[in-house]
Amino acid sequence: MIDPARHRVLLTGAAGEIGQALRASLRATYKHLRLTDIRPITDLAPNETFMAADVADRAALDRVMHGVDALIHMTGAPADHDLETLFRVNARGVYDTFEAARGAGVRRIVYASSNHAHGLYPIEIPVTPAHPARPDSMYGTFKVWGETMLQYYFDRHAIQSVSLRIGTYRPLPIDQRSLATWLSPRDICQLVDLSLRHAGPGALVVQGYSGNTHLKVADPNWARLGYVPLDNAEQYREMLRGQGIDVDGAWEYDRHGGSFAVQPEKQ
Ligand SMILES: NC(=O)c1ccc[n+]([C@@H]2O[C@H](COP(=O)([O-])OP(=O)(O)OC[C@H]3O[C@@H](n4cnc5c(N)ncnc54)[C@H](O)[C@@H]3O)[C@@H](O)[C@H]2O)c1
Repeated sequence: MIDPARHRVLLTGAAGEIGQALRASLRATYKHLRLTDIRPITDLAPNETFMAADVADRAALDRVMHGVDALIHMTGAPADHDLETLFRVNARGVYDTFEAARGAGVRRIVYASSNHAHGLYPIEIPVTPAHPARPDSMYGTFKVWGETMLQYYFDRHAIQSVSLRIGTYRPLPIDQRSLATWLSPRDICQLVDLSLRHAGPGALVVQGYSGNTHLKVADPNWARLGYVPLDNAEQYREMLRGQGIDVDGAWEYDRHGGSFAVQPEKQ
């Protein structure tokens, strides 16, 4: 269990979309926040420090990890990158970040996994974290790799973790699919805070969605984490209609991963 007053928390990918939202929330309660990213961050609060690092630079990761109690790993290359970049950042980079954390004695890891870890399940199947992974892309495959490392870390090294299978993180829903998969800024902040404070998550995999009326997943491990979503994409259906987005027709995608489940990999 991470104590916001005492323990040092490292946020990777801190300059990214989710990283920025997390900073805004975490810095109100966590006294010792270290941020890292390949991009610079200059608008630091008094309880934040920044150390630049590329996840491809293991020596830099070891320096960044020194004295850290908990890691929130949000670094990531988006799925539209070529496979070499995805491997370097989302596979090798995850391996090096987690190994640097293990070497530094980190006891808790919160990991940005993705709904694309189960993206090839037919949409009629209410996927739970207990189902075997069925990634829809190399991006999703590397997310499963991270989850698998964390299971191993718990079983062999007693490092506890929460892998969040993030749906569609945006300020607001964007299309019909996101009426099922949306994750709001304040709900990701809640999920990460609960993942840090939980007394004993083991190696927990949690569906990272808001409380959407049209969720296509089930048994998301929310009760285990103590997560009660604040937002529901349904309240934005009318807004999407007003933008001319078809939100009332037949469900557009037959797999959980949406377009990822059909588009070719970028070589
Ligand atoms: N946004 C979503 O809907 C969504 C959905 C599922 C999973 N995720 C995952 O959540 C995490 C955060 O997503 P996001 O939307 O904030 O992405 P983002 O692209 O906005 O942020 C990722 C951050 O990683 C940093 N980064 C990239 N390559 C790096 C490298 N080589 N070394 C160090 N830092 C590097 C970038 O500079 C960026 O600030 C990612 O791992 C992503 O795969 C996001």
